[in-house]
Amino acid sequence: MTIAVGCDHGGFPLKQAVLESIAKAGHTAIDLGTNSTDAVDYPDYSAAVAETVLSRKADRGIVICGSGVGATVAANKFKGIRAGLCHDTFSARQGVEDDDMNVLTLGARIIGPLLAVEIIQAFLKAQFSNAERHLRRLNKVKGFEEHFGQ
Ligand code: RB5
Repeated sequence: MTIAVGCDHGGFPLKQAVLESIAKAGHTAIDLGTNSTDAVDYPDYSAAVAETVLSRKADRGIVICGSGVGATVAANKFKGIRAGLCHDTFSARQGVEDDDMNVLTLGARIIGPLLAVEIIQAFLKAQFSNAERHLRRLNKVKGFEEHFGQ
């Protein structure tokens, strides 16, 4: 898979470990910045990752900010993006299998690189189950996008 990766200044300290983890798992990363700890705005990087996934230049995305919260909120404003903040491997796996999560978000001020790498491996290995009950629930979520989206 190709994975779009973006971070703000709060997420930057974790980005290299994220990129290396993607390569180690045999996938290709697209690095969308930022490239230093100089202050930037997390919505810009959630947008870059979301647009790269929605345009199918990437299969999935990862966005990192300080807590992971802002990156998640911003990414989920994009129709078709299902971003989840996962600081444990169970959620990273089940978020894909049950909820078809296509963007993983991380907080670099919350977790360290070793846990981040395990979470990313769980995210990358997981596939959506296509189980009827999960499709039904996802269709309800998609209905929200149709009714309440722009
Ligand atoms: C930046 O200081 C910080 O607000 C951002 O990285 C993130 O934690 C937002 O949720």
